[in-house]
Amino acid sequence: MMLLGGRFGRAQEPGAPSETPVAPQSATPETATDGAPRFTFAMASDSHIGAAKKTSKYTQQWATTVEEINEFHPAFTLFLGDLVDFGEKPEHHAHYATWMETAKKLTAPWLAVPGNHDPVEVFQKYIAKETDAVHDHQGLLRAITFHDAQPNPKHDATATPAQIEWLDRAISEAPGSGKNVILASHVVFHKNGPPDRAWYMKEGRTEFEVLLKKHQSRIFAMFTGHYHNGLRGWNDLGIHEVMMPAVCYNLVRIKGKSIPEAIQEWTEKGGGFVLPEFRPGWIQAEVYVDRMVLKYKPLGAVSDAQKVLANA
Ligand SMILES: [Fe+2]
Repeated sequence: MMLLGGRFGRAQEPGAPSETPVAPQSATPETATDGAPRFTFAMASDSHIGAAKKTSKYTQQWATTVEEINEFHPAFTLFLGDLVDFGEKPEHHAHYATWMETAKKLTAPWLAVPGNHDPVEVFQKYIAKETDAVHDHQGLLRAITFHDAQPNPKHDATATPAQIEWLDRAISEAPGSGKNVILASHVVFHKNGPPDRAWYMKEGRTEFEVLLKKHQSRIFAMFTGHYHNGLRGWNDLGIHEVMMPAVCYNLVRIKGKSIPEAIQEWTEKGGGFVLPEFRPGWIQAEVYVDRMVLKYKPLGAVSDAQKVLANA
């Protein structure tokens, strides 16, 4: 089974109504049949506006992220949580207004999920009423966002029975066929341990795994934030799980070694992959007929760090 063959690759019937408004700014025409991606989208995470002594720095980095995303002309953008640092503090609520003021400059549709630093009621007041939502891109791809982060000081995730029922329906009803569904939340499902953080979905895990196995032929990837470790990921169930780099800062988890040595030890102990790029940044996702390419975009810089996600 191909990733996009008859999946992302299936154009809508001529004259068929569009599922959702599509950004007219896309620089990558849907009709591309050569080496160009069929379409692109952007992912960013963990802006943490309001972090101690870093408010103006991170506010600026978030503004730069939005400027760069607009220059990229994605079909849509996903923001994967922790918009504000310790958003539960009333004196930090104003940072959500700051975050939103910048996000409103995004020229294409966008969706965000709350992180552990974003209390749901505050997120709903300042950012969006819905924490769990669906975005269809021209019948080619369904992006499903959902809130899984337990609130500070916790770092793990929960999937509730109601969410699993809703996700089951949202995946089943996705337009097209094959692996053209992506899920996006704040906290990864993959059961990781040291040298990784061991923050993952712990409540509702068994039921969520049943859901993933049921829809293994529809879900291409799950994207999350939270770890601030550059682009890091695994593939356990024939579904890619990839954690986004943070917009604010990223850490190399194996200390005292060169980056190649650190990555070797890190992946030997923790499996999966890590890209050799840790500058603050966001991700350009290129969707091809048979693959998705995730390109690391450091803020104000260029990088050749990228990860190709093939059909699993
Ligand atoms: Fe987080």
